[in-house]
Amino acid sequence: MKMKLDLEDYGIYEGISETIVTTSRGWSINAAPMGIIRRKDKLFLRLFKGSTTYDNVLSEKILVANTTWNAITFVNSTFSDLNDSEFESENCNGRTIVSLKEAQSWVAFECTNTKLTSDALVAELIPIRTHVNKCLIRAPNRGFLGVIEACIHGTRYQLTGDEKYLKLIKAYGDIVDKCGGETEKEAMKLLYGYL
Ligand SMILES: Cc1cc2nc3c(=O)[nH]c(=O)nc-3n(C[C@H](O)[C@H](O)[C@H](O)COP(=O)(O)O)c2cc1C
Repeated sequence: MKMKLDLEDYGIYEGISETIVTTSRGWSINAAPMGIIRRKDKLFLRLFKGSTTYDNVLSEKILVANTTWNAITFVNSTFSDLNDSEFESENCNGRTIVSLKEAQSWVAFECTNTKLTSDALVAELIPIRTHVNKCLIRAPNRGFLGVIEACIHGTRYQLTGDEKYLKLIKAYGDIVDKCGGETEKEAMKLLYGYL
């Protein structure tokens, strides 16, 4: 079932929104940060080969994009697995969708027009269900954004082993020290532990 909706009501604006994408296949559930790309009212997702999210989306053609400001969730879902107790699931037109309990809001998407290249898939996203848990009013915080950037450089460091990424992570770590709250500082500590 197609829906007409204001994506902004669910936190998804023009450009790339950094969400936690939750997916499932059989009994296994997964969460990972993924960018939802919005150009006007078209939505896409680019998934690089090698992740569980890639495998789940290719097989199930459905995903949930969760909005959260929890820096610890970004770090843990990038480098490890979340606990099963952090998810909830529901039936959506005969299919199971999983989301994050702590999300401020989420949108479930059907993936269509999937294009495969040698290293990635690009899918168009059609919203099929939405949910708002709580409205969060929060000013931009450089510490939180620093954790997000450090996570991205952390994945690059793990892929390549290039020390330049460690320097970048350290630079973002300094911003987290200066501007972040306790959650962002704890998230940064966790991140260093994963590297
Ligand atoms: C903020 C952020 C955004 C990301 N966006 C994407 C993305 O759009 N596509 C992608 O393939 N990987 C993206 N990644 C990397 C994946 O989250 C990372 O490879 C993760 O370990 C995959 O986990 P999984 O194997 O549980 O799916 C992103 C990472 C971060 C921190």
